[in-house]
Amino acid sequence: MLFDEPLAPYTTYKVGGPARMLVEAGSEADVVLAARLAAEEGLPLLPLGRGSNVVVADAGFPGVVIRAGRGLSSLEIRSDGKVDAGGGCPLPVLARETARAGRGGLEFYTGIPGTVGGAVRMNAGGHGSDTAAWLRSARIVDLTSVSVSERAAADLDFGYRRSNLVDTDYVVSAVFATVPSEPEAALDTIKGVTRWRRLHQPGGTLNAGSVFKNPQGDSAGRIIDELGLKGFSVGRVSVSERHANFFVADDGATAGDLHRLVEEVRRRVAESTGIDLEIEIRFVGDFT
Ligand code: EPU
Repeated sequence: MLFDEPLAPYTTYKVGGPARMLVEAGSEADVVLAARLAAEEGLPLLPLGRGSNVVVADAGFPGVVIRAGRGLSSLEIRSDGKVDAGGGCPLPVLARETARAGRGGLEFYTGIPGTVGGAVRMNAGGHGSDTAAWLRSARIVDLTSVSVSERAAADLDFGYRRSNLVDTDYVVSAVFATVPSEPEAALDTIKGVTRWRRLHQPGGTLNAGSVFKNPQGDSAGRIIDELGLKGFSVGRVSVSERHANFFVADDGATAGDLHRLVEEVRRRVAESTGIDLEIEIRFVGDFT
């Protein structure tokens, strides 16, 4: 366990303050222990994957952060084609390894820099597919009641970028379906997805993917772009010139800069279009 551990390096934006405690859980039992400890100390809990959808406040997180260690990041492709993945398994690894094994369906995960746990929590998707389409079940520790359950995908109430899981549900592992495929065909699909993302999204920069969910029937990026906000910045964070629903941080940026930019863009969109954009990235900690 680490105390006062800076969280910026554990997130893709590389901003934000420290966690009071950071636990790297190597097993389900570790997750349960961390939850018990937090309950005894009266501290809030935060499951953290690869930090690709999370922004921690500059003041940090005053509780216990649980990250998946190696023991919770495994990947096993069964002979029946089902895939068992640890909650900490990186999505690009899941995409590539299943493709290599001649199993298709999960190629869309290749450009999503999160984990299986994060994907289940928010129904991560792209390129015409999403987690709901392939997930069969997930094993979850409820960090509040400290109880473990195996939940069928149908019980997770998936919608566009949402499920009924909450901040204190920790995804230990998940089972995915796949379909038979030629490894070459699946790897070609992965190449296509990668190429598309390179052309349309600001890869290689400090960002956390889409800032806002798309409003029904439209695209947040298109709307923000139409308002001429590409390049608009607060402090050291700006709206990407490549895709207006990606906000990109420079060295020296703060979580506060990002939060203010998000609120200002949201305000301007509402003022000009009447659309109240829903934020997709998660702000954690005190932003007042
Ligand atoms: N557009 C603009 N200007 C921009 C950005 C986009 O005019 O700055 C236009 C595009 O030309 C296109 C439309 O808006 O006509 C939609 O853009 P795009 O195809 O890039 O898709 P998106 O709706 O912005 C969604 C997901 C992405 C996912 C891609 C590919 C959301 C919020 N975003 O983007 O998911 O990678 O489709 O499938 O659902 C994420 O959720 O973090 C994410 C990156």
